[in-house]
Amino acid sequence: MKLLGKIAREFSGYNILESSKRLLDRKPLQCSLYVTDRCNLDCAYCTEYDNSRPHPSIEDLKKWVRKIRELGTMRIALVGGEPLTHPDIVKLVRYCRELGFATSLTTNGFLLTRKLVAELEDAGLQVMQISVDRMTPSAITKKSFKTILPKLDYFRDSKISLHITGVICADTLPEAQAVLETGLSRGIPTEVRLVHADPLQRFRVDRGRREELERFVDSMIERKRHGEKIHTSEAILNYQHSLLRGEHVEWTCVAGYKLFFVSAQGKFWLCSMVHTDKHIMDVTPEDLYANYHKKSCQQGCGVYCAVSASLLVEKPVQVLGKEIVARARRVPSMFRHSSSSDVNKATQTAVANPSGAQEMNGSAEGGPSADQRVALRKSA
Ligand SMILES: C[S@@+](CC[C@H](N)C(=O)[O-])C[C@H]1O[C@@H](n2cnc3c(N)ncnc32)[C@H](O)[C@@H]1O
Ligand code: SF4
Ligand code: SF4
Repeated sequence: MKLLGKIAREFSGYNILESSKRLLDRKPLQCSLYVTDRCNLDCAYCTEYDNSRPHPSIEDLKKWVRKIRELGTMRIALVGGEPLTHPDIVKLVRYCRELGFATSLTTNGFLLTRKLVAELEDAGLQVMQISVDRMTPSAITKKSFKTILPKLDYFRDSKISLHITGVICADTLPEAQAVLETGLSRGIPTEVRLVHADPLQRFRVDRGRREELERFVDSMIERKRHGEKIHTSEAILNYQHSLLRGEHVEWTCVAGYKLFFVSAQGKFWLCSMVHTDKHIMDVTPEDLYANYHKKSCQQGCGVYCAVSASLLVEKPVQVLGKEIVARARRVPSMFRHSSSSDVNKATQTAVANPSGAQEMNGSAEGGPSADQRVALRKSA
């Protein structure tokens, strides 16, 4: 039963066939909605929080979400600020699911409790990204496994597909390997990605030494090729490699069209970096399509979800084919895990035994990143 459930989830999490429809029509695939600007942390690299602003009301959020759905959007990614600080986050997740959205949530995880995970699961949340940058907190980022490891047990029998994402900069690079190992050794799809600049193209923190960063990205490419659950595509890893080398990559940004953002004030944003003053309630399908063109900010773009979606739009058949094959490849290992181990051994046991690969919750690399298995036209 558990095994069948896992296999089903590999193929249904963000419904590949449904998603493929969005590649043939002019409707959007995904919206990232800022549930709030408020945050309980203050990561030094981040420009996406502002505690001077109140939470938007659940009524406003519901209104915006209805409009986002009316535009034909298939998936909604609840982001922030810290989405779990919003008092009505569970209600919002439930509402998104009632409207038919595939729904994910990105969190620093600090406010997660066993009860809240159960409530989010009951509300229908499908995917959760927990952001973890280091093993222990630093002056740059407090998002570390020290806080998150004890919480992983909450997901032991959960239907929510969990994945972990970290940011690499000079401060986190020495621990990036350990972050990756810690997630992967527990069977959790994990990735660490290069820090990106702010909307004015400034880096808020030291990015780290290029050669070291390159070595690390190359090691992830290697591991990805060996079938490890690196939670991003080889194409996006290659893209980051090209970024580090300053190499040109040919792509057309679909931000503002196939993928867009809505701010915690209800404003329509092309992406987390490019903002507009237009309210989401005033956006038309024609407005979206008008954003389907190359952008002057493409060079050096670090909005990886937008890069992924753009590459998907360019080569849909190839990309979706790869996605299906990639998921199918996981099935035999599920049989192995299911027959050879107690799949749901307490996560704490795994903490003490990091080399024991465990399937956490049947998590797919699906989710907002399901569209990441793409091939760059020009790889590094
Ligand atoms: C803005 S946060 C919002 C959700 C939640 N507060 C969190 O930290 O997961 C969303 C994601 O963006 C990442 N992020 C923020 N600033 C970044 C930057 N300058 N470069 C790369 N990733 C960044 C965070 O680490 C997190 O994974
Ligand atoms: S926890 Fe998330 S929103 Fe808050 S400061 Fe860090 S990256 Fe930004
Ligand atoms: S190129 Fe990057 S920064 Fe510019 S609109 Fe597209 S996603 Fe946003």
